[in-house]
Amino acid sequence: MKKEPLFVALSNQKGGVGKSTFTVLLASYFHYLKGYNVLVVDCDYPQHSISTMRNWEVGNIEKNVHLQNQLVEQFGTSGKRPYAFLKSRSWIMTLSFLTFRAP
Ligand SMILES: Nc1ncnc2c1ncn2[C@@H]1O[C@H](COP(=O)(O)OP(=O)(O)OP(=O)(O)O)[C@@H](O)[C@H]1O
Ligand SMILES: [Mg+2]
Repeated sequence: MKKEPLFVALSNQKGGVGKSTFTVLLASYFHYLKGYNVLVVDCDYPQHSISTMRNWEVGNIEKNVHLQNQLVEQFGTSGKRPYAFLKSRSWIMTLSFLTFRAP
């Protein structure tokens, strides 16, 4: 794998086809399983559904000891903190960007 960041854009003119879902799955795969350093740029202004999902997850974890234990276990296994994401306000189209580079 090259050391330079690799950019991946997931786009489709049609709504509700799984762009956000696939972005999160792909980000998790590269970050936790392959060990890359991943940044997700959520360009889906103003919906920002990936950011909403992350906030929802954090809220659930804060309320649930079982999820907190699972998170600790995940840190132990992967050695990785959750991947970073940026909420972009620039309107391009319904896009989510992934960028990652080798650890
Ligand atoms: N492979 C799949 N199988 C079944 N349901 C799926 C799949 N991928 C996504 N979904 C579901 O489809 C719905 C839309 O997915 P998602 O929000 O990822 O689409 P989107 O293309 O990002 O939508 P939008 O255009 O609104 O941003 C969600 O309820 C999601 O859980
Ligand atoms: Mg979306």
